[in-house]
Amino acid sequence: MSNTGSTGPNTELREMGTLDITDSRTKKTYQSKILQGGVEGDTAVRAMDLRQIKTAPGEFGLMTYDPAFMNTASCKSAITFIDGDKGILRYRGYPIEQLAEKATFLEVAWLLRNGELPTQSEYDGWVHDITYHTYVHENIKTFLQGFRYDAHPMSMLCSAVAAMSSFYPEAKAIHDPEQRNISIVRLLAKLPTLAAFCYRHVKGLPFIYPDNDLSYVENFLSMVARMSESKYEGNPVFVKALEILFILHADHEQNCSTSAVRAVGSSQVDPFSAVAAGVAALYGPLHGGANEQVLRMIKEIEHPNNVAGFIDDVKSGKGARLMGFGHRVYKSYDPRAKIVKQLADEVFKQVGMDKDLEIALKLEEAALNDEYFISRKLYPNVDFYTGLIYRSMAFPTDFFTVLFAVARTAGWLAQWEEMLNDKEQKIARPRQIYVGYGERGYSTKLTNPFPKVGKDSARP
Ligand code: ACO
Repeated sequence: MSNTGSTGPNTELREMGTLDITDSRTKKTYQSKILQGGVEGDTAVRAMDLRQIKTAPGEFGLMTYDPAFMNTASCKSAITFIDGDKGILRYRGYPIEQLAEKATFLEVAWLLRNGELPTQSEYDGWVHDITYHTYVHENIKTFLQGFRYDAHPMSMLCSAVAAMSSFYPEAKAIHDPEQRNISIVRLLAKLPTLAAFCYRHVKGLPFIYPDNDLSYVENFLSMVARMSESKYEGNPVFVKALEILFILHADHEQNCSTSAVRAVGSSQVDPFSAVAAGVAALYGPLHGGANEQVLRMIKEIEHPNNVAGFIDDVKSGKGARLMGFGHRVYKSYDPRAKIVKQLADEVFKQVGMDKDLEIALKLEEAALNDEYFISRKLYPNVDFYTGLIYRSMAFPTDFFTVLFAVARTAGWLAQWEEMLNDKEQKIARPRQIYVGYGERGYSTKLTNPFPKVGKDSARP
């Protein structure tokens, strides 16, 4: 059973000073407390403090305008710390480098959720529970078989995770710690099974059931790759590499998909539906879909000699962006990218260096020495090398983001539960600044409001 109420660090925001704001319209001065979280946490003022700033009593009051949440903290969180300028990433205080080197993925999943590393008996129970729940209802197989042979596995996974909500209607009881726990265990346990089934369907291969004698990662590889052998034995270099990649991808604070899980979860929907929203957000090419796009970009470049021309096209805006470069938060080297690059070296020792890796290395070198990328602080992100590793492990390109989703489920669930336990959180509902027409009268431009479409116009 999980520990849902860890004592942990003090999560209250501390008052550090005050901010005086003078409204030039009224010449009135208002005061807002400057708040800080954690030992090295960021400072902020409460956006709601601005609401008191008005020119007349009936007015709504001042809001902040922040498209894409460039400078808005939507929550307090004790899970993941990032210092984007220094290239630091920690889960619950532990540096990502140490976790990647020494921990297992399930140990990290426990840590993310509970705030502390598990004891041996906690870990044994956690591994047992997750292993015990790896099977999915047989109807899920029929459901997945309904997809076309060329369906993108991320759209299959998104639908399958959402469909799981219908198999566990009791998961709606999100305020019941028992129900919350079993839903979290089920999601972590079944995501690899669903992901592997998506893969097998696209490949036209029979589904392989979980093997509960294997570790989390090895079992996943078995469900993906096993053919006629009676017992699957994974390549230890690949098993270790995937364990590390899962740890690196397990959480990354308030990114697009995590914010989607929190926002959808804030409506108090069940966690299967909230996590399906996370999978949908991750699918996008500017987020988790970037690892797939990196490989497609490398294929398009075709030869190391074409790298310089490609970089020129990126800079002039003629071509696409350099995929796998840049990050909203990291304005120096992404610490995960450093680890992934080392990992790539180890995996390539096994499978051999190839032209695509040569192109990637040349791209990285060209970009890191180019004023355009230096001045914009664009460095390789985690996705730059992961695609190359996945491909060398024989995963098809459109499966890369699925691997990311399996790992990120640990973070989504920890963040979802943290949100539910946060008394300050309510249903997410941003404001807008309306810039459309003022009121105007309706006068139709139609002459026939119900045109006939015709019986022969239906298309599948
Ligand atoms: N290639 C070329 N130019 C870039 C790139 C890139 N990869 N990324 C940003 N820029 C440029 C922009 O054109 C812009 O230039 P300008 O100031 O001359 O207009 C400047 O850098 C700032 O870019 P923004 O889009 O404002 O930066 P933002 O923080 O919004 O974007 C993002 C971050 C989406 C990750 C962006 O860097 C990008 O599109 N990268 C490529 C996709 C990618 O690798 N995504 C994975 C992110 S990691 C993850 O999700 C796991």
